Amino acid sequence: MSDPINKDKGNGATSAVVKVRINGRRITVPTPWHNATLLMFLREELGLTGSKFGCGEGYCGACTVHVGGNASRSCLLPMHSLNEANVRTIEGLATQTDAGERLHPVQQAWVAHNVPQCGYCQAGQIMTAAALLATTPHPTSTEVQQTMDANLCRCGTYNRIKAAVLTAAELQEAQGGQ
Ligand code: FES
Ligand code: FES
Repeated sequence: MSDPINKDKGNGATSAVVKVRINGRRITVPTPWHNATLLMFLREELGLTGSKFGCGEGYCGACTVHVGGNASRSCLLPMHSLNEANVRTIEGLATQTDAGERLHPVQQAWVAHNVPQCGYCQAGQIMTAAALLATTPHPTSTEVQQTMDANLCRCGTYNRIKAAVLTAAELQEAQGGQ
């Protein structure tokens, strides 16, 4: 069955309207961006540069964002596949309150453990961890390792990442969930 959303018109663009919600903001994607990846749209069109380009092939996880609450590799997702999708990036992970910005428990734990070294992989690491804790609030060390091993870190911060995820689970519970 043909899919009008994904029908390529031969000029690198699609004709159907593509609307996405990114960090709560409703956005109509300009037609020239329909065949671009979500990662490039975020970085080049919206200026949301927290998500990083690493491998561009789905291996490293530096580009990880949430799509429908799931950790997703934005370098692999064409915009035309995301109509009506709900996307959250690292820029939208903290909660805005009357008292100001409240960091997500994962971000709080990252600060407490001083996790980043160069920082390049860290937005992807944090988004992966946040998605894990949303579905598995009390992960075992093994579950943390299995999940986080899919995100690469050239600086070798793996031990601090795993410790921080376990701390984030405790913070999330203490703060009544996120
Ligand atoms: S840049 Fe997307 S997985 Fe590496
Ligand atoms: S902190 Fe440098 S790549 Fe992970």
